[in-house]
Amino acid sequence: MKFPDLRERSREPELLDLGGVPEAEVEASLADIRFVNTWLGGHRTFERLLRPFLRADGAISLLDVGCGSADLPARLLERHRQLRVVGLDLKPTHLRHTPPQVHRVAGDVFAPPFAERSFDVVACSLFLHHLDGADVSRALGGLWRLARRALVVNDLRRAQVPHAFARLVFPRLFRSPVSVHDGLVSIRRSFTPRELRAAFVDAGLPEPEVRRVFPYRLAALAVRREP
Ligand SMILES: C[S@@+](CC[C@H](N)C(=O)[O-])C[C@H]1O[C@@H](n2cnc3c(N)ncnc32)[C@H](O)[C@@H]1O
Repeated sequence: MKFPDLRERSREPELLDLGGVPEAEVEASLADIRFVNTWLGGHRTFERLLRPFLRADGAISLLDVGCGSADLPARLLERHRQLRVVGLDLKPTHLRHTPPQVHRVAGDVFAPPFAERSFDVVACSLFLHHLDGADVSRALGGLWRLARRALVVNDLRRAQVPHAFARLVFPRLFRSPVSVHDGLVSIRRSFTPRELRAAFVDAGLPEPEVRRVFPYRLAALAVRREP
């Protein structure tokens, strides 16, 4: 097996981002991402990262950016009824699967239709790696401005082990060849802990807590200290 050069983040595009993928294939690929969330740690990681902010008493608002099907916040809502969730995604077609309890908004992370500090917590999962170069810290800066309390990033860690695993397993696991392609590209586009930390610092955010989360997830959390 030939190993890719993973020293730098890849700029290869994901097929779903390029557009032009037939509707049925988009549907199948979104179903594959929901499968990953269920079986490869997506839900577990999302809930673990957000748990400290989910107070039992009183409402809390959450913006999920690049929410796709919004299955992650939907699962949280089953257990945390006090949560109010808005899901933002660039692609209206992806939002079609969003359950009714998530308020869906079609829009770009670079022009979000919300006022500053509109949400207690702003989160994104498997979204940040879709952005290239300086756009990563530009997006983080914008998301931080929307958050009253915290910004939570849940993404992938770029490494040979998950890439080799994905090459073997994704073709057997996924319904759609688009997911096989985009899943592998996602790993090549994802971050090292050092890169993710640097993106927060470049954006002028407080020093984040960066965590490696099993299996080969990478999480970063910035908390607002001042009122
Ligand atoms: C891999 S999906 C992740 C879906 C979901 N968050 C999850 O973890 O299952 C990435 C999503 O980010 C969205 N996206 C990509 N670029 C975006 C942008 N500039 N603004 C908002 N959403 C964007 C895509 O349309 C896609 O639905």
